[in-house]
Amino acid sequence: MCGIIGYTGGDPALPLLLGGLERLEYRGYDSAGIAIIEGRKLVIEKKVGKIRELVRSLWGKPFSGKTGIGHTRWATHGAPSIKNAHPHTDSKGEFAVVHNGIIENFLDLREDLKREGVKFKSETDTEVIAHLIARSYRGDLLSAVLETVEKLKGAFAFAVITVHEPGRIVGVKQGSPLVVGIGEGENFLASDIPAILPYTRRVITLSDGEIADLTPEGVNIYDFLGNPVTKDIMIVPWDIVSAERGGFKHFMLKEIHEQPKAVGDTVRGLLSSGEVLPFSLKEFRRVILIACGTSYHAGLIGKFWFERLAGVPTEVVYASEFRYSGSPVSEEDLVIGISQSGETIDTKFAVNMAKEKGAKTVALVNVVGSSLDRESDHSVYTHAGPEIGVAATKTFTAQIAALYFLALRENPDRETLLSDLMRVPSLIEEVLEKAEDIERVAEKFMKKKNFLYLGRYLSYPIALEGALKLKEISYIHAEGYPAGEMKHGPIALIDENMPVVVVAPQDRVYEKTLSNIEEVRTRKGIVISVGFEGDERLKKVSSEFLEVPPIVEDLTPFLTVIPLQILAYYIASRLGLDVDQPRNLAKTVTVE
Ligand code: M6R
Repeated sequence: MCGIIGYTGGDPALPLLLGGLERLEYRGYDSAGIAIIEGRKLVIEKKVGKIRELVRSLWGKPFSGKTGIGHTRWATHGAPSIKNAHPHTDSKGEFAVVHNGIIENFLDLREDLKREGVKFKSETDTEVIAHLIARSYRGDLLSAVLETVEKLKGAFAFAVITVHEPGRIVGVKQGSPLVVGIGEGENFLASDIPAILPYTRRVITLSDGEIADLTPEGVNIYDFLGNPVTKDIMIVPWDIVSAERGGFKHFMLKEIHEQPKAVGDTVRGLLSSGEVLPFSLKEFRRVILIACGTSYHAGLIGKFWFERLAGVPTEVVYASEFRYSGSPVSEEDLVIGISQSGETIDTKFAVNMAKEKGAKTVALVNVVGSSLDRESDHSVYTHAGPEIGVAATKTFTAQIAALYFLALRENPDRETLLSDLMRVPSLIEEVLEKAEDIERVAEKFMKKKNFLYLGRYLSYPIALEGALKLKEISYIHAEGYPAGEMKHGPIALIDENMPVVVVAPQDRVYEKTLSNIEEVRTRKGIVISVGFEGDERLKKVSSEFLEVPPIVEDLTPFLTVIPLQILAYYIASRLGLDVDQPRNLAKTVTVE
């Protein structure tokens, strides 16, 4: 999704803005731009494509202005083009705006402005903000912004600068993320913390309905009525090193290799935080797990554990479906929103809707201080560290570690089961040591156009996750399916060209899964299996066998997902694709 960066201070803004935009690249974008106040003029540069195109176009233009804003755009309204790229300006070019999110009533606002004679230069919803602020401006940028936000509907964050007040940036948060970085004689605004980490670890996370007014000397926060708001400054525990690639070719590969630490840190973090939730899951009629994408797959695994180990009926729902489903929710329900970023708008809206209906809400997030964290009744944290690759890997295994931990709260065998969980990090290490074998398999199958992923019971969500990983970074069509359902349709797809990845650890459904493999083989499908080391039966019926160390049934997902992440990674990497920033995707999805 779009990324915002802003700087005001004593140094030239340009390099800081470009560096910040590079660190926001992971969010996904199709064009980028900057606006800097140069003397009493606004200079604007925009490019379609990567940040390096923008950098190239700025060579030989040594802008020295000390206040500016920058943007990476993920197109929603209007195709990716220079005219639609941000920043957008008012008619006189005196105000520049960068924006993330959607102004839902922009068509009405645009028509009103057109009737007043405003000529629009872009197809975006953003441009209305610049014109509205210019129209409301009477010598004070903050007042003009306050007057403007009253008219806007939707979920958004934006930043604005003006030639009339060089040195000032005003940022607004309503639904989309925005943080303020506090420096010495300089201050920052950004969509996400990594953008400003090289300069400061002192951060204020804005809440919805807040406005930040930045100058080099200080930052003031207001609500939408203009009342001052007192905010705590948070010291970010990460440093820039943990947000960089550390010798790996891609962030995704680095993050795959960080999973032993992510799982270990998450379990240790939960163990040391005393009573993680101040109530029992059993106090509720049911638990509803709400999430999107990979976090949804983590929820599907959590459901098995919650029902069997904690004895509480559990539903898992896609956030985007739940919000409009009309599903009855009440104070008898516990709703857990699972989200790496804590900013996914579908998840946030769905959890908030459940809260309004009386449900108790819990955020299971990786980003402390994120919207979901702040807006839920309680929070449970994964301790995976920043995840930069668009494809979620280490946050998935950290999420399932946290869900397993919650499921064990009142289980009579908690101690034994927890000690099994503590062995997981070293077993993941063992799987990672086999990455080269998996790379060879990737090379062999990278030209295939379709893949089927099958699994039963706890391995079904892993099949879904394996297929999602492959399609999102390699653009190869892949479908995850319950192995037992295959005969009800997808079996028609199987022929000698179809690789079928089967997740088959020795669990309660092992024999059934072997039968499903036979169904594939009979139709000449190519079986790539994931199973326990030493499983000769499975090996014999597989063209390729990706092995993981044996582990108790409940913990198999922690290990079986790893070869699938590695397989997807090497296929995409060998195809020469942009693994960390796949096309059309954003790390944090802040539009509905
Ligand atoms: O930040 P969240 O966990 O809420 O994100 C949810 C999905 O957008 C995310 O898992 C997405 O599906 C990833 N690209 C999967 O790799």
